[in-house]
Amino acid sequence: MSLADAVIPGRPVAVAPGVHWVGALDPEMRQFDIILRTANGTSYNAYAVRGHNGVAVIDTVKEDFAGDFFARLWACCKPEEIRAIVLNHLEPDHSGALPELLAAAPQAPLYISRPALGMLKGLLKDGLDPARIVAVTDDTRVELGGRSLRFLPTPYLHWPDTQCTWVEEDGLLFSGDVFGCHFCDARLFNDRAGDFRFSFDYYYQHIMRPFREFVLQALGLIEPLPIRLIAPAHGPVLRDHPQTYVRRYRQLAEPLLANEAAGRAKTLLVFYISAYGNTARMAQAVRDGAEGVDGVRVSLYDLVGGEPGPFADLIEEADGLLFGSPTINGDAVKPVWDLLSSLTLVKVKGKLGGAFGSYGWSGEAVGLIEDRLRGLKLRVPRSGVKVKLIPTAEELAECAAFGRDLAEQLVGRAGPRHIDFTAPQALSA
Ligand code: FEO
Repeated sequence: MSLADAVIPGRPVAVAPGVHWVGALDPEMRQFDIILRTANGTSYNAYAVRGHNGVAVIDTVKEDFAGDFFARLWACCKPEEIRAIVLNHLEPDHSGALPELLAAAPQAPLYISRPALGMLKGLLKDGLDPARIVAVTDDTRVELGGRSLRFLPTPYLHWPDTQCTWVEEDGLLFSGDVFGCHFCDARLFNDRAGDFRFSFDYYYQHIMRPFREFVLQALGLIEPLPIRLIAPAHGPVLRDHPQTYVRRYRQLAEPLLANEAAGRAKTLLVFYISAYGNTARMAQAVRDGAEGVDGVRVSLYDLVGGEPGPFADLIEEADGLLFGSPTINGDAVKPVWDLLSSLTLVKVKGKLGGAFGSYGWSGEAVGLIEDRLRGLKLRVPRSGVKVKLIPTAEELAECAAFGRDLAEQLVGRAGPRHIDFTAPQALSA
């Protein structure tokens, strides 16, 4: 390891001529934002960019690490030299030291995205002189002398406020959470740090994936840039082959497999699990009914034989999702909930959803699943089918009609509506 490239307490690290990392390492972190795990901590990356006319500070750190941040920052500039403070993202892991920085450099405007304005009010309870706040536009330039900053809107990567900062003269992209990962390594640079590929992908899957369409939109802005270095807000600084990481985002954001039916058919996935074969028979009838509709590709999956991860990949591409579960102890069964809970990682809003299942004496599973689907903002256009114990031929026909009806709705040939006025969605349908 080269000490010149390594993080030393209180010392900034040069990442490019006139550009220093002034962030903090958090090697003890094991769980981030409750939902993300990390095997070796994280870093909160902040940067000081010097021009002939002054310094821009890009992002800060989590409040607990403000001491590390200021020690490094004041080692490479004086407070009065700061002529711009940029927050690419206001989440507290990057804005924790902002109030103190604003106080230390009262002459410096704060550059944030327009969607960040409302968040800033929630963050700085004591308020900030509006004259110090610049909501950036495509035309905003911060001239530092010899280098300038401009801003790329990258909303929902992964908050509404997120943006990237671009230094055209040097090919530097300060990317915020984008291209980041929770990986703490004092060697700081991607060509020196340990292998962080798993962390990079894991971070994408958990943070960015639900906003895949916005990722693709942002890549449209980022890919044409002649990037020489990516300085993300977490994890290694990407100075070696930075475009590799842009390409990796493209790979992660594009569908995993070509869907042979895409463009020719709507896709309907039927997931089920069955204790005594009754819900399985219902699932097959639902599938058979849906398959009779032209332009719909139906797939049937028994959750006993599958993992939520790969199913989530299929779900991301599907147009409709049906879930069959028996009711056991007044609830749907765990594999169904496991799959439904994994859907927070993919975009399912607006897909068509439904539920069905056999029950012994109460039958709550169908309603509970429907509630969850509505909570995920799927369309649940009709009440599901519940069958007491063994489905009769008539009840199986009802299942087939349920599948057919939903399939027809997918292709825009909806049959007569069955409106259940006791269901919450009936009022808004
Ligand atoms: Fe690293 Fe979204 O904060």
